[in-house]
Amino acid sequence: MLRLDVLTIFPDFFGQVFDFGIIRRAKLAGIVEINVHDIREFATDKHKMTDDRPFGGGDGMVMKAEPIFLAIEQLVGTSNRDEYPPGTRVVMLSPQGKPLKQAIASEFADDARHVVLICGRYEGVDERVNETLVTDEISIGDYVLSGGEPAAIVLTDAIVRLLPEALGSETSAENDSFSNGLLDCPHYTRPAEFRGMTVPEVLLNGNHAEIEKWRHEKALEKTRQNRPDLLTGEYGEM
Ligand code: ADE
Repeated sequence: MLRLDVLTIFPDFFGQVFDFGIIRRAKLAGIVEINVHDIREFATDKHKMTDDRPFGGGDGMVMKAEPIFLAIEQLVGTSNRDEYPPGTRVVMLSPQGKPLKQAIASEFADDARHVVLICGRYEGVDERVNETLVTDEISIGDYVLSGGEPAAIVLTDAIVRLLPEALGSETSAENDSFSNGLLDCPHYTRPAEFRGMTVPEVLLNGNHAEIEKWRHEKALEKTRQNRPDLLTGEYGEM
């Protein structure tokens, strides 16, 4: 069982987002437990302030350290990173993080037992949170979102669908884009002819060796077209 806690100032943002498809099934099967927490509930002052003006001046607000420290102390049991229980990952979602890759999601799915996702907002989060609490700073791409919430949803989905027993068919994650360093091949379903457009003959003839060869060639072709940057190493004919 993977335990996943989300820390956000907008808990309602998450609504039913974890109640569909693979994530819903994984929750019902007891493979994952997901809880969303309002950072405001950990604020100690009478106005429940979660942000304040930046030292040194400048625009915008910075999320305060204390409510996040208190949340981690309650959820993990300590704010001392060296004393986190084995398999604990405290993640800061921010555009300054390491770019999310399938390998990172896979590593979390394999090794993590408790993941806390901190959703930053405003101009940033007091850096002492990163210095002291955070084990992994992760970005979902080279663009700036208005907060880490969509990124937390993306990371959760990428991890949960890789948990053992979460996917319907054992093999379906193995053929994912990126899991072998290539994008996925094209797929077709019935009818064999739709509005005059046909399905490649090779997929209809039942020759599995030929089908696998075709799929690999198409995956390479798609990768060459859309993501030539992926074509180094094994397939590095670029
Ligand atoms: N917060 C704002 N932008 C982000 C990004 N690109 N990835 C993760 N968290 C973010």
